[in-house]
Amino acid sequence: MIIISDINEMQRLADEHRAGGRRIGFVPTMGFLHEGHLDLLRLARRASDIVVLSIFVNPTQFAAGEDLDRYPRDFERDCTLAESTGCDIVFAPKAAQMYPEGDASWVHVDQLGSSLEGASRPTHFRGVTTVVTKLFHIVRPHLSVFGQKDAQQAAIIRRMTRDLHFGIDIVIAPIRREPDGLAMSSRNTYLSDQDRREALALSHALQLARQKYDNGERRTAELRSTLLDELQRSGAVDLDYAAIVHPDTFEPAGEMITGRVLIAIAARVGKTRLIDNMTLGEKAIDS
Ligand code: PAF
Repeated sequence: MIIISDINEMQRLADEHRAGGRRIGFVPTMGFLHEGHLDLLRLARRASDIVVLSIFVNPTQFAAGEDLDRYPRDFERDCTLAESTGCDIVFAPKAAQMYPEGDASWVHVDQLGSSLEGASRPTHFRGVTTVVTKLFHIVRPHLSVFGQKDAQQAAIIRRMTRDLHFGIDIVIAPIRREPDGLAMSSRNTYLSDQDRREALALSHALQLARQKYDNGERRTAELRSTLLDELQRSGAVDLDYAAIVHPDTFEPAGEMITGRVLIAIAARVGKTRLIDNMTLGEKAIDS
């Protein structure tokens, strides 16, 4: 496995692999890898000849007062874990090269990013789509893998890739959970022991809603009440949103659930903001 930090070198190597007819699979991350990220790398490994992992804590997707400065980092450990999955290249650029002096270009996807995470973090998705565009132009992948845990991000990137004709296959991997149900996230490292226990309210609420759905409940309001009751019962989480939406458009689901829907939750547990989600209906892609 090789480590590259220079953008021109990464582009040159990507061009070489493409010219050699090799398929490049790409997993963009902000590092501090967990099993969920390793699933993405394994998926890329199965579908490509060359696997590239990027590690870049992207400043433009954090608003002032968010956790940019304390975002967990452990580059050595990340490299060891990446190598264990058969990753070929770790691309870890510097912020100054990614955003050169005078950088004034943004990529913005309308509509999909205005609700849920976009409403709570208004500048977040613009930072994500801009950096992912830059990374796509640098790594030049044939395929790129994202996690369903960030469902709205995944939908926005899929739409951007289609609308802007990037010619990259976007693959979405299911959420990886801890044995007790907590969705894996680099931010789980912020949780105290007590927060960690209380954070289970999110996945419990989702599971309860799924149980009701599996037992035949199709009224959106009823399912949402189940979520809210469970989150309120736990008393420990400060809810940001709990929404039932169409999984591609993120428009609110109708009164009755007919096709596939996404249940998305964001809540603060202690000082940590966590998100989780679950799809219901045909072709559900998470567990
Ligand atoms: O999901 C993430 O870790 C980030 O949002 C991404 C896609 C790597 C862009 O910085």
